[in-house]
Amino acid sequence: MAFTKKIFILVLSLPVVLGLVAPQKRALCPDGVNSAANAQCCSLFQVREDLMNNLFENECGDASHGALRLIFHDSVGIDPVVGGGGADGSILTFNATELTFPANAGIDDVLDDVGPFALKWAHVLSPGDFVQFAGVLSLAACPGAPKVKFMMGRPPPTAASPPNLVPQPFDPVPTILARFGSIGIEPQEVVALLASHSTAGADDIDPNLQGLPFDISPSTFDTQIFIDVQLRGTGFPGSGGNQGEVETAVQGTLRLQSDHLLARDSATNCFWQSFANNQELMMSQFAAAAFKMGLLGHNEADLIDCSDVIPQPPPFAGSPSFPPGQTITDVEQACSTAAFPDLPTQPGPPLVVPPIPQADDDDS
Ligand code: HEM
Ligand SMILES: *[C@@H]1O[C@H](CO)[C@@H](O)[C@H](O)[C@H]1NC(C)=O
Repeated sequence: MAFTKKIFILVLSLPVVLGLVAPQKRALCPDGVNSAANAQCCSLFQVREDLMNNLFENECGDASHGALRLIFHDSVGIDPVVGGGGADGSILTFNATELTFPANAGIDDVLDDVGPFALKWAHVLSPGDFVQFAGVLSLAACPGAPKVKFMMGRPPPTAASPPNLVPQPFDPVPTILARFGSIGIEPQEVVALLASHSTAGADDIDPNLQGLPFDISPSTFDTQIFIDVQLRGTGFPGSGGNQGEVETAVQGTLRLQSDHLLARDSATNCFWQSFANNQELMMSQFAAAAFKMGLLGHNEADLIDCSDVIPQPPPFAGSPSFPPGQTITDVEQACSTAAFPDLPTQPGPPLVVPPIPQADDDDS
C-alpha cells in the first residue's frame, strides 16, 4: 500500500517536477499586503474587509444568510421567452419593481442591510458583481461551506426582471424544476443549491415569527437540512396553515413545502438523500451550481476571475446525525434505489431550536 501511494504521489507531482505546470503567479497588490493573479482584482480586498467586518460581522448569521439568498433572487431573473438579465444586479437597481414580486418577500430587509454597501462600493463593483461577491463572500463565516468561485465584470442592469421567475415555496415540484430547467439548471443542481437552506430561515412564512431556521444548525453549512427535512413532520413552530409551510420534525424549525416535496419527489429524492451523509459531495456540487447560477445572462469568457479574493470558509467539525430523540425509524424513506443512511442520534433531550437573531428588526 505504502509503495502504491508513493508512486501515486510521484505521478501526481511529475508535471510540476518537469515544469509542465507553471507555479501560480500572483502579483502583489498596491496595498503591499494582498496579492492576486489578476491585478484588476486588487481593489476587491478592501471591499472584502468592509463586508466581513461591518456587514456580516464575521458571523454566519442573518446578514450572511440574506446575502446568500440574494444571489438566487437576482440570478434567476432571466427566461428564454420573457427575457431578463439574470445575474445583473437588477434586484438592487430596480428594487422599486422587483420588491413588489411576491416571491421577493423579505428581500426588502436584505436590501436594507446590503444596499448601503453596494452604493458605497459602486465605483469598484457593478450591481451584478456586488450581489455575487457579497453572496459568495457571506459563506466565509459559515463552517462547512465551500469556496465558490467569483468572476467580475458584469455590465450594469438595463431593466427590472420580468415578474414570476423566482420559484415560490408552494409551487409544485414540476413547476420548480421546469423553471430552473428553462435556464439550464438540472434537478440535481437544484437540490445542490438547496444546501443553502442549511444556513437559512424564514421571516415571512409565519406572520408572527421571524428567523425560524430550516434546520437545527443554521450557522453551519452542513448537510443537516437534507436529514431534518427527510424526517416525519410532527408540528408547526407557530401557527399552522401558512402557505408554503408543512409540518417540521424539530421544534423551533420551519419546513418549507418545496424542500419537503423535493426531498420526496421521484425526480429529486435520491439526489436529496445523496447529500445527507456526504459533506464533500454537497460542498462540491453546491459550489459548482452556485457559480453556474451567478453566470446566468453572461459569458464566463467576458469576465475576470477574482476567486483568489474569496477566502476558504472554515471546515465543518461535526458529523451528520439525527436530532436528539430521532432515529432511522423517523425517516420517510423516499429514494427507491438506496436506503437513507443510518446515522447516530445526537445525545440529549429533544431540541427547541432558537430563532436566528435578526440583523434588521425595524420593520419585522
Ligand atoms: C426551490 C427553490 C427555492 C424556494 C422555493 C425557496 C424559498 C425560500 C423561502 C420561502 C425562504 C424564506 C424567506 C422568508 O420568509 O424570509 C428562503 C430563504 C432562503 N433561501 Fe431559498 N428558496 C429556493 C431556493 C434557494 C436557492 C437556490 C438559494 C441559493 C442561494 C436559496 C437561499 C436561501 C437562503 C440563504 C435563505 C435564508 C434567508 C434568511 O435567512 O434571511 N434558496 N427560501
Ligand atoms: C433602490 O433603487 C434606487 C434607484 O436605483 C436606489 O437609489 C436605492 O438605493 C435602492 N435601494 C436599495 C436598498 O438598494
